[in-house]
Amino acid sequence: MLTAQISIENEVTLRNLQAAFEGESNAHARYNAFAVKADGEGLHGAASLFRAAARAEQIHAGNYARLIRQMGSDPAATIHPVKVQSTLENLNEARAGERYEIDSMYPEFLREAKGHGNTAAVRTFTWALEAEKTHARLFSEAIAVLDSGWLIAARTFYVCAACGYTSETPESQRCPACNLPWEKFEVVR
Ligand SMILES: [Fe+2]
Ligand SMILES: [Fe+2]
Repeated sequence: MLTAQISIENEVTLRNLQAAFEGESNAHARYNAFAVKADGEGLHGAASLFRAAARAEQIHAGNYARLIRQMGSDPAATIHPVKVQSTLENLNEARAGERYEIDSMYPEFLREAKGHGNTAAVRTFTWALEAEKTHARLFSEAIAVLDSGWLIAARTFYVCAACGYTSETPESQRCPACNLPWEKFEVVR
């Protein structure tokens, strides 16, 4: 009876990990397509931001894939065709996607993983949640300055190689989300 109960609990966590893996894999594909569009519109700073966020989502997907394998399953994602619009529309869509993850998806997944004591899943979901907050903030800033010409020149972003935390300013010694030393951050431009 106990064994069956544990396996059911794992099943829910596993399903959420798969959903997160699929979501992050699609976000990675979407942001890379948005980066190409932004470069085409001469908005190289926006392209840099999309590339940095794409790398972060790829890191998230990799973390989920590892955990799914540790739980004895195979990561599987269907990558959907990307609808590319103007960069302003793409930034708004990107921000909406991040807000969904921050406000709905990850809090729900975290509640479930905490309830079942899956500490590895709790840690990975928490890392992603914190990284998505940095993306939502950066997309908001980009939307606010899009018309001012600030996003014409390419920009430098720092992406935490462990959790995907994304920043324009390496102001601290360690990642605020996962404690990784700054020197291990990836530079994305
Ligand atoms: Fe994100
Ligand atoms: Fe981190």
